[in-house]
Amino acid sequence: MSLREIIVYPDPVLRKKSAYVEEVSKKITQLMRDMVETMHASRGVGLAAVQVGVLKRVIVVNVGETLLALANPEIIGGDGEVQMEEGCLCLPQVLVEVMRKEKVKVKGLNEKGEEVVIDAEGLLARALQHEIDHLDGVLIIDKVSKLKRELLTSKLRKEAKERAIAKKS
Ligand code: CO
Repeated sequence: MSLREIIVYPDPVLRKKSAYVEEVSKKITQLMRDMVETMHASRGVGLAAVQVGVLKRVIVVNVGETLLALANPEIIGGDGEVQMEEGCLCLPQVLVEVMRKEKVKVKGLNEKGEEVVIDAEGLLARALQHEIDHLDGVLIIDKVSKLKRELLTSKLRKEAKERAIAKKS
C-alpha cells in the first residue's frame, strides 16, 4: 500500500470527467487500497480517484463503521433534501453549505467486482454524492452563488500561487 498525493484546486485535472472502469482488476483494487490509506491519512470521509490524479470512476468513503470502495458508482434513486456544511480535500480551508439529497440509493461494483446496491442516508449519503460529483468534475464551489464562488476561487488561486512561490524559494 502507498499514500498518493492529493491534487489541489485549481489543478485542471479536477474538472475532467473520469472514465468507466471496464474490469475491477488488480490495478483497480490496489488503487482502492491506496485511496483508503490516503483518505485515512488526510482524515477525510471520502475520496475520488481523480483527487489523486487517476481519471477512473472509483471512489472510497468511510463514515462511522461503513467503509466502501466502489467502481462506477451511480445514483439510482434518492429522496429528500438537506443543506449541510461541506469541505473537500482539494479545496483547503473551504467550507460551504451544500444542498443534497437526504437519502440515496447507489449502485456500483465493489472491490471484488460484484455489483452492489447501497441505501445510504445522513453523512454517508452526503459523502457518496460528493465523491460521485468528483467523477464528473463537479466541486462543492459549483454549488454556491456566483458571487461566493468568485470570492472563493480568487482566494484559492492566490493561495496556490503563494504555495508555488514558497516551494521555489
Ligand atoms: Co471532495
